[in-house]
Amino acid sequence: MSVKPEFKDIRIGVIGGTGFYNLKGLKPITKLDIDTPWGKPSSPLFISETESGHKIAFLARHGENHERLPTEVNFQANIAALKHVGVRVVIAFSAVGSLREEVRPMDFVIPDQIIDRTKGIRKDTYFGNGLTGHATFGDPYHEPVAQLIKAHEAALENMKLIKGGTVVAIEGPLFSTRAESKMYRLWGGDIINMTAVPEAKLAREAEIAYQMVCMATDYDSWRDEEASVSTTDVLPILKKNSENANKLLVSLLPALVEKVYSDQQTLEQFTGTSGMFKASL
Ligand code: ADE
Repeated sequence: MSVKPEFKDIRIGVIGGTGFYNLKGLKPITKLDIDTPWGKPSSPLFISETESGHKIAFLARHGENHERLPTEVNFQANIAALKHVGVRVVIAFSAVGSLREEVRPMDFVIPDQIIDRTKGIRKDTYFGNGLTGHATFGDPYHEPVAQLIKAHEAALENMKLIKGGTVVAIEGPLFSTRAESKMYRLWGGDIINMTAVPEAKLAREAEIAYQMVCMATDYDSWRDEEASVSTTDVLPILKKNSENANKLLVSLLPALVEKVYSDQQTLEQFTGTSGMFKASL
């Protein structure tokens, strides 16, 4: 899995979720086909450049043509591929259902907690087979990155960018029953998706500053007066959400570039990799 030296220090990675398959507003440079010890990532890494000439790596979580179900995504390979090109910060976009009246379809949420309802069948650790480690995971997302994203909410019009919230990760591919949807609300869930786990876990083990940005598409199945969620509800919203995700990124990238490409101390402080990740025993 070797890449040319000019592609070894790409410090910013973006993961696109359902409906968000490429980056617009940046200069495309190349695509890198990477093989990792955990297999192939969902898509090549699409490398583009900011106006300041800094490279960004983009990966389509479900594949370029959305050919992988959440359960079929090789999350280990995805995170390993980004790590391999030097990524230190990942902003990961994900389509979600809303479990709260105030989170309307098309609003964005920057979550700070996760409830894991996946079935334990996804490979969710790099440890094992003789390599033991237990990473700290009380706060699964990265507050400095979350704050930086929130500071750029003006890039978005006629919608909210809500900072803080609990994402419930279900296995899928089916959506939830009404009873489950109501239960997740009682548990304190604010939004629901199928990919928050194990992506955040693996990013933590890989010592990457990782923040998910959730893009609401529907009200899941808890509203008795409405039909429960179907893909027909979700599809028209996805296009608008991906345009907004692009706008948000283009607005925040210069500030992120400044944090991760200025000097070593600023980079380490911002990404918080010293002391925060107690990955090994
Ligand atoms: N992704 C988008 N909407 C969703 C929902 N209601 N449940 C799970 N994942 C989703």
